Amino acid sequence: MERCPPWISALIGSLALLLALSESATAQQPEAGMDNAACLACHSNPSITYQFPSGEVWPLTIDPASFDASVHGQKGVRCTACHTDITGYPHPPLTVASRRYYELEHYKSCERCHPQVYRETLDSVHARQIAAGNWAAAICTDCHDPHRAPTQPPRLEIPVTCSKCHAAIYNEYRESVHGKALIEADNLDVPTCTDCHGVHTQEDPRTTRFRLNSPKLCATCHADPDKMAQYGLSADVFDTYVADFHGTTVVLFERQSPDLPTNKPVCYDCHGVHNMKSAKDPDSQVYRDNLLKTCQRCHPDASANFSSSWLSHYRPDARRFPLVFFVDLFYKIFIPAVIGFMGLYVVLDFSGRVTRRWRRRSSEEAE
Ligand code: HEC
Ligand code: HEC
Ligand code: HEC
Ligand code: HEC
Ligand code: HEC
Ligand code: HEC
Ligand code: HEC
Ligand code: HEC
Ligand code: HEC
Repeated sequence: MERCPPWISALIGSLALLLALSESATAQQPEAGMDNAACLACHSNPSITYQFPSGEVWPLTIDPASFDASVHGQKGVRCTACHTDITGYPHPPLTVASRRYYELEHYKSCERCHPQVYRETLDSVHARQIAAGNWAAAICTDCHDPHRAPTQPPRLEIPVTCSKCHAAIYNEYRESVHGKALIEADNLDVPTCTDCHGVHTQEDPRTTRFRLNSPKLCATCHADPDKMAQYGLSADVFDTYVADFHGTTVVLFERQSPDLPTNKPVCYDCHGVHNMKSAKDPDSQVYRDNLLKTCQRCHPDASANFSSSWLSHYRPDARRFPLVFFVDLFYKIFIPAVIGFMGLYVVLDFSGRVTRRWRRRSSEEAE
């Protein structure tokens, strides 16, 4: 056991007790047990550590100023409200073998005051991983330091919070059109990790259900004309996608059989996921020179001019796709006209026959 030598503990203990007694004269809270100042008398010490039998050293310093600035500090939450097993010093002997084990045992203390959020997390990918024995997956205290301000990561800090464990994805995101805007320009209009994955309810993003629903996720921003106008981007991308040979199927599946996989592309098959770039960026998967390669992933036989069949993000107009536009126009006028004339012909013909027969019959009756 590598605990503090007993005489140091005793010394610290009596000092803390003195401090606690002097504090308790002015303390407002009548609750039993030590108040925060008494705990911090030892735990503000910058060199206080504990060494596990494995040799792992655990720093036990809590910075009082940062704790006071945290939401819990501000609301007067006591150390012992979370550390219910500790009432004074010496503490109950430590039975866990590592810091991670301790954290996994103690984050459940959050449930008492945040039962709603706690329940939400139970079905998330992280909770499932923990349940399956993957201790590296995120628990409350990985995203919310219980002793530090800010307790809750502000929106701009969310990718950094996730990056602790998803560094490779963070590095891609940082270079993407969305991530660059958030990280370099503090732009809050672009999606951060939790807009696409959820905050406490993260589901597995590789399920069919997630995939089929994803165009709608992009549409929450990309079909919003006011938002897109600020960036000079078309707000038609969703509607035109749904109208084309790829999107029609995806949306139909999403409505009718959300668990049936489809081989048709969703937005991120063409644009990329965490590395998505502006369509004008030569690194974009949809940049003119790279487009054929992107189509060839599913149309392996596509030849050089295949990608020019792509026009689904545009509503054809006389300037951009004159042929498509005029063919479209031709059909729009020609087909209704033909059907109209046919209808009129049938009606006229029918009423002609009826009147002729009626006249014939009335002249027969008159005879
Ligand atoms: C006399 C100094 C002292 C005081 C007062 C003290 N601690 Fe500790 N604390 C320690 C030391 C030393 C350790 C290292 C492990 C050990 O010796 O038990 C520790 C360990 C801990 C740990 C690590 C895990 C564990 O359960 O041992 C927590 C959590 C903790 N203290 C919280 C508190 C809280 C909360 C209070 C106030 C109610 C408090 N401490 C008061 C000295 C103190
Ligand atoms: C909102 C709940 C909560 C409050 C309030 C709280 N703690 Fe903790 N504390 C935890 C949890 C959960 C852990 C274990 C997970 C972790 O360390 O992230 C922990 C870990 C610790 C540790 C181990 C070292 C470390 O950083 O992991 C010490 C020491 C400690 N707390 C002391 C204190 C003291 C002293 C106070 C009061 C000033 C306090 N705690 C207030 C929840 C809390
Ligand atoms: C003893 C009750 C208590 C416990 C236990 C507790 N909290 Fe809190 N927490 C509060 C209070 C009170 C607030 C202030 C906001 C409010 O009124 O909801 C708060 C606020 C928060 C916030 C910020 C919410 C915001 O709107 O800014 C986060 C994040 C948070 N707690 C996380 C945790 C985590 C993580 C744990 C477990 C380590 C935990 N809490 C345990 C009482 C508690
Ligand atoms: C993977 C990271 C992550 C985990 C794990 C996590 N949170 Fe959060 N939590 C966040 C983020 C990010 C926000 C801020 C959301 C926002 O800005 O919209 C947040 C917000 C909160 C809030 C304030 C808003 C609200 O919804 O009430 C509380 C309270 C909270 N979390 C508590 C918890 C508790 C308790 C746990 C564990 C049961 C937990 N969180 C697990 C990332 C996480
Ligand atoms: C403490 C580490 C940690 C933190 C912090 C963390 N994660 Fe995770 N996350 C994991 C681990 C471990 C897995 C299990 C799969 C793996 O190893 O990639 C996982 C899985 C996921 C998955 C499912 C991927 C799959 O392969 O099933 C998503 C989505 C995810 N995390 C999103 C997030 C987001 C968003 C944040 C930030 C709000 C975040 N994570 C923060 C550790 C973490
Ligand atoms: C614009 C929406 C969007 C944003 C923003 C986003 N993701 Fe994803 N993420 C997705 C999609 C879609 C998938 C599924 C891709 C697939 O099918 O392979 C995914 C997959 C994942 C996975 C699991 C698959 C893998 O590659 O390991 C993790 C983990 C993950 N994202 C974490 C993050 C983190 C962390 C951030 C922030 C830095 C983030 N995501 C930002 C949409 C997004
Ligand atoms: C929270 C809102 C939001 C969500 C959700 C979102 N985006 Fe974006 N996206 C934006 C904004 C805002 C921009 C413009 C950023 C800039 O130019 O600085 C943008 C830019 C883009 C661009 C670059 C356009 C160009 O050529 O400049 C593409 C491509 C893109 N998004 C695709 C997607 C896809 C695919 C999804 C879904 C997987 C998605 N976005 C989800 C807000 C969003
Ligand atoms: C089959 C591949 C493919 C699919 C699927 C696809 N896109 Fe595109 N997207 C492109 C190409 C190619 C461009 C560049 C040329 C153009 O605008 O048509 C583009 C351009 C864009 C732009 C830039 C528009 C502008 O005004 O400059 C945005 C934003 C965008 N797509 C978003 C989306 C969203 C959101 C979805 C899903 C609803 C989606 N894309 C589906 C291939 C695709
Ligand atoms: C994720 C896979 C995927 C990607 C990427 C993809 N497609 Fe498709 N596409 C399909 C599938 C599947 C069909 C339906 C084929 C069928 O029914 O025979 C299809 C059908 C088509 C059709 C209708 C005619 C036909 O061959 O049946 C055209 C045109 C087309 N795609 C063009 C493109 C273009 C241009 C690109 C690149 C910008 C592209 N596709 C990218 C999967 C994809």
